[in-house]
Amino acid sequence: MPKIITTISLKGGVGKTTITAALAEFMSLEFGQRVLVVDLDSQINLTTMMIGENEWWELNNKGLTLATAFRDAIEGTSNFDVQASIQRGVSSVKRVTGVDLLPSSLDLISLQEQLSALRVAEGSTTAAVNILGNAIAPVAAFYDYILIDCPPNIGPITLNGLAMSDGYIIPTIPDVLSTYGIPQIQTHIAKFGRELGRDIVELGLVITKYKSNSAIHNATVRNLRRDREIQNVLPVYLAESNAIAASALFSKYSTLKVKYGNAGQFDQLREITKHIMTEAEAKL
Ligand SMILES: Nc1ncnc2c1ncn2[C@@H]1O[C@H](COP(=O)(O)OP(=O)(O)O)[C@@H](O)[C@H]1O
Ligand SMILES: [Mg+2]
Repeated sequence: MPKIITTISLKGGVGKTTITAALAEFMSLEFGQRVLVVDLDSQINLTTMMIGENEWWELNNKGLTLATAFRDAIEGTSNFDVQASIQRGVSSVKRVTGVDLLPSSLDLISLQEQLSALRVAEGSTTAAVNILGNAIAPVAAFYDYILIDCPPNIGPITLNGLAMSDGYIIPTIPDVLSTYGIPQIQTHIAKFGRELGRDIVELGLVITKYKSNSAIHNATVRNLRRDREIQNVLPVYLAESNAIAASALFSKYSTLKVKYGNAGQFDQLREITKHIMTEAEAKL
């Protein structure tokens, strides 16, 4: 069965989507893994990064996104077609052939509210959290890793991602405001795991947009690393770089080095991927 990892933080703009996409591509090309990425964010960033807006628009019109799975659960229908919704070989890097995508939809905004209402009506913290897991179950065994990208909140859609996850990573920019929400998310996930009756394992904090010449970045990283009991800070940091920012553009690239940059970025992302896979092998 695949190892299922959620990328999560309460803060937006910390590089969740970027790191999820890169992890998938590096796992596939550098480490030969079959990877499914799942976009749970109604901002559809991961989806448009992978397949572009035009293709997303067509899929969305045909109901071939995760919104259909959640709508089915709310309305009692069974329209979601997992095989048809999965987009295969989606990486913008030519040589990466092993990354598939389950696309998101803007409709998740309103569905999230309906799901919340359903959960309140059922009066249980674990109500309506297995919709995603059930929807993906028929194809899960085909993958080595399933990576789930979340919106920056812990609403019912995110809980669906966590409920099917073995572990999670928290990307963070090492500055004051970005790190504030980390203890809350850790506590919340631990509590949710207890409610589900199993552990959702923290694999580590991924330092993103790191500026080696920033005093505050270095002080924050030092503080985070000091709390070893509380969290495992992955030892390789992803630097802030123009090439990585540009990689969000839906465009074709010949290699991972061309896409992400070869002034350290390729090596950082490769090492980060390796560390996460090592943690996953050991802990999940
Ligand atoms: N290491 C990095 N260097 C430069 N820009 C980055 C880096 N990581 C992410 N970005 C950019 O920062 C913005 C937010 O990143 P994103 O991955 O969308 O964050 P999130 O998913 O947490 O909201 C995007 O424009 C993205 O391209
Ligand atoms: Mg995002």
